[in-house]
Amino acid sequence: MSKRKERREKAELFTRVRDAVSRVDEDSRGHDGAGLTDDVLAASPAFAGLITSARRELPRMKKFRFQLLHAWITAHLPPGRLADVGGGKGLLAYLLQADGWQTTVIDPVAQGLPDKYKDIAADRQIRIPPEARVLRRDQPFAPDMAREFDVLVAMHAHGCNIQLIDAAAEYGRAAILLPCCLIQEPLIPPPGISWIQALADYAGQKGFKVEPFRLNFKGQNIGLYLSL
Ligand SMILES: C[S@@+](CC[C@H](N)C(=O)[O-])C[C@H]1O[C@@H](n2cnc3c(N)ncnc32)[C@H](O)[C@@H]1O
Repeated sequence: MSKRKERREKAELFTRVRDAVSRVDEDSRGHDGAGLTDDVLAASPAFAGLITSARRELPRMKKFRFQLLHAWITAHLPPGRLADVGGGKGLLAYLLQADGWQTTVIDPVAQGLPDKYKDIAADRQIRIPPEARVLRRDQPFAPDMAREFDVLVAMHAHGCNIQLIDAAAEYGRAAILLPCCLIQEPLIPPPGISWIQALADYAGQKGFKVEPFRLNFKGQNIGLYLSL
């Protein structure tokens, strides 16, 4: 296959993935929980739609979670002030910044931006200039920080999920959680309830509308969009 054809097919694949992510999200509106693995999902009537849709529609990508979450956010929300809690090197913040979002990484571990990332639509590496910056607070998330943002994001942000839901509820903010491991959280799910289901239930009790969605990267790829 020629390089040009290969590039075009990969670009088409990305477009299909983006469309499928939107469809999965629309399919799942109104559900109120999620499971961390396919087996757990399959056992949950509320979330079975996510797994069947994802299996049917989505070819698997191994990584690119920042690019995929960036695509989800820009497809679903108007630009605003966004905090990426536990945002690591800040690639999500960097990508959103280019789309008019005011982004801040809140993470106690000071880190620089990566020097490149893959544009999966164009199938090419993009260099990040050494002078590029995102706003950062190199400190742990604290609830009153929520006041300054419209949307709080926590992707695989260990130990921040409950705190972030509480802060979003207190200040009337939206939140996007992609929970991963249960580490240092003040809530232990009851037996038989997955961590993400417990979070969805907790957010529901706080008055949030909980909309699950699934991104096509390998690992814990189920997100909860919480809005009031
Ligand atoms: C597993 S990494 C995830 C990083 C990134 N979001 C990603 O998906 O690759 C968890 C991140 O949470 C940060 N973190 C740990 N405790 C935190 C806290 N209390 N407030 C904000 N970030 C925290 C860590 O420094 C780390 O960068």
